[in-house]
Amino acid sequence: MDIDTAATGTRSPLLTPAAIAGTELPNRIVMAPMTRLRADTRGVPQPVMADYYAQRAGAGLIVSEGIAPSVRGQLFLNEPGLFTEEQIAGWRRVTDAVHAADGRIFAQIMHAGRNGHPANRLDGGTPEAPSAVATTRPLHTLGGKVDPVTPRAMTTADIRTTIDDHADAARAALRAGFDGVEIHSANGYLAHQFLADNTNVRTDAYGGGPADRARFAIELTEAVADAVGADRVGLRVAPGNPENELVEADPAPVYRALLAAVDPLGLAYLHVTDDPGYPALDDLRPRWSGTLIGNTGEHEETTRESAERLIREDRADLVSFGRPFISNPDLPARIADGVPWAPIREKNFHYTSGPRGYVDYPAAPRKAVAG
Ligand SMILES: Cc1cc2nc3c(=O)[nH]c(=O)nc-3n(C[C@H](O)[C@H](O)[C@H](O)COP(=O)(O)O)c2cc1C
Repeated sequence: MDIDTAATGTRSPLLTPAAIAGTELPNRIVMAPMTRLRADTRGVPQPVMADYYAQRAGAGLIVSEGIAPSVRGQLFLNEPGLFTEEQIAGWRRVTDAVHAADGRIFAQIMHAGRNGHPANRLDGGTPEAPSAVATTRPLHTLGGKVDPVTPRAMTTADIRTTIDDHADAARAALRAGFDGVEIHSANGYLAHQFLADNTNVRTDAYGGGPADRARFAIELTEAVADAVGADRVGLRVAPGNPENELVEADPAPVYRALLAAVDPLGLAYLHVTDDPGYPALDDLRPRWSGTLIGNTGEHEETTRESAERLIREDRADLVSFGRPFISNPDLPARIADGVPWAPIREKNFHYTSGPRGYVDYPAAPRKAVAG
């Protein structure tokens, strides 16, 4: 069945149109958010980023790389932000280029939490996190690798400020021309740190049982939805994903509590990363009444076959592809034409500056598809 589909291309279920909150998408292929660090050291998106995203505008939806909502949320200095007018103007160039190429793009809002470091913040401040629990891995800075620092446990006032920062960043995203925003509550970043066991040892209303661990992500989602409209907000989760040293012994009750609270909001979508340790899609799909974007996780790169299976088995409405989009800017056309995918040549250009390994992967020549 898959061989047949790959040969003819046109029957791939990934190529059927879909809609997100009333916006028509030409296919079910989502470009997954990928940090690429091509902004300048003030977090201002550079022109090469407009080229990169415009090259990939054939995706049904692009979700941008993680973007800092505030100085306090910065992960790296050359990670783009959405908290200064210069950054917003830089993003406007990107969104205009994507729209000119008939694409659609959401901004992923990513707060580093304990993954931050004073050397990676414009203000040199100490990172804030649910609890004062440090990561153990060395962190990258522009000056080389450094030891992590122990984050400061957020006060209730810090939590309020952080939620407000996300709402402001969402408003800024719309001013910059994005079609919506995705809240990053996955892969070991701030909202995920609240959900997980080892990074949240709080004894107040934001820690403890499942509903309390989910409280931050719920309040964050509600505030961002209030700021820009629920139909312009997606939420990304990766239950059980141990990335960035997170431990979640029993994700199910926590994520069920989260979904019970946010499903009625009418969000644009839920973006779920599956994990070998916890079958997130199986558990959460029946608990979500809206659009669901599936991702097969980072343990093995998404293939055409694994993505088509998610749609055929109705485990997701759309599928996000990360690494395949790095080396195949024209991924949907390659799927339509049955053209082989180019491999990533040099992994060490994922997070460097400049065009190499970024905008120098060519599109395949289009070929006429029989039938
Ligand atoms: C270079 C790179 C950067 C990434 N950055 C982000 C990010 O900023 N936000 C996020 O939610 N996921 C990030 N991811 C995870 C991807 O969105 C995706 O879930 C992962 O690559 C698995 O999909 P794939 O097998 O299709 O690559 C990143 C992945 C890669 C390879």
